[in-house]
Amino acid sequence: MWWTTESLTVTPVGLRLDGVELVQLAREQGTPCFVYSARRIRHNLDAIREAMPARSLIQYAMKANRSHRVLDVIREYGGVGIDACSPGEVALALEAGFRPAEISFNASMLSDRDLDAVVASGVPVILDTFSALRRYRARVPRGTPIGLRFDPDVRAGYTSHLAYGRAKFGFDLGDFADVLQAASDFEVVGLHIHLGWGLREEAAGAVDLAFARLASLARRVPSLVWVNVGGGLGARYRGADRPLSLSRWGRALHEHLAPLGVAVVCEPGTAVVSDAGVLLVQVNTVERRRGVTWVGVDAGHAVDPCPVFYGIPIEVVHASCPADPVAGRYRVVGHINEASDVWATDVELPEVGEGDILAFLPAGAYAASMASNHCLRGNYAEVLIDP
Ligand SMILES: Cc1ncc(COP(=O)(O)O)c(C=O)c1O
Repeated sequence: MWWTTESLTVTPVGLRLDGVELVQLAREQGTPCFVYSARRIRHNLDAIREAMPARSLIQYAMKANRSHRVLDVIREYGGVGIDACSPGEVALALEAGFRPAEISFNASMLSDRDLDAVVASGVPVILDTFSALRRYRARVPRGTPIGLRFDPDVRAGYTSHLAYGRAKFGFDLGDFADVLQAASDFEVVGLHIHLGWGLREEAAGAVDLAFARLASLARRVPSLVWVNVGGGLGARYRGADRPLSLSRWGRALHEHLAPLGVAVVCEPGTAVVSDAGVLLVQVNTVERRRGVTWVGVDAGHAVDPCPVFYGIPIEVVHASCPADPVAGRYRVVGHINEASDVWATDVELPEVGEGDILAFLPAGAYAASMASNHCLRGNYAEVLIDP
């Protein structure tokens, strides 16, 4: 059971999150229900902070999970800012009590409407197109501080379409001089890169290369206050996954970026919240057809699109008897009117019956925050456990 943590444990009465019995919680709250562990979020923030150089800052990527209670845990933790990628996220972060200076706005393909909203908010921006530089300059005074995002020109990510290098984001490295020229009316205080989502251990070389490239750009900007390495850490979706370890990532930060003497910033989302969340669903149908035992549950890809949208696996766990012997192989499917609405195939589970509660793991990142209302099946509960 690779997915157990100090917070998520297996007991004789079933799964518990920080001591709370999840089956009972599901019965009380109704399903589908996302449950988050405040303790695990704090643990993850501690671990990221520990891996980073002394002068560093975490800016939580709220796109991963923007639940009010989760944002409260992060604000109360202290010293952690927000990476916001839309005017809506900026507004929500402000509403959650983060100050404008604690928020960084980092998005691509910005409309004039986006730029107007972010200027009105007073939140600092990171820009990555000549077009945005030109249109932002028309809205702010000369000398306004900005960050610039570059494409590190390496490909790394959990799957090929989750690698962000050579994609739509960031200025080309080869255009560096032209970018500085285009930004000469601003004070360039930061440089940013983001490699991709779900960096694996074998991406260590690509990470070294990207951080070294960032460092060499940084040495050419005397006004620099920070360098930002984006997110990409902590995705583990099956036992065989080997995500890039925090220690290996931290070593690369210390080697390439700490010597610059500026603040080292990161924007983790997944690594903060992913394994802090569980999705509880109820089985409504167990039926054998064409050689397959189908398990239908009361949640589909409207509440967590990752498995269908990105092909990211989830672990299916029987919440009341996770450690019981395997009784069969099941295909677990949702209630959305699409053939693709499959959570997992060939899952080995203890005996599953109608009315049982299953847990899908991990479900803290890019699940509720990406929910849609497809088929008007977008309802879910969210509970934060904070002992
Ligand atoms: C620019 C940027 N920063 C941070 C993140 C957060 O990434 P992760 O959840 O992998 O930590 C993303 C995710 O797409 C991103 O695009």
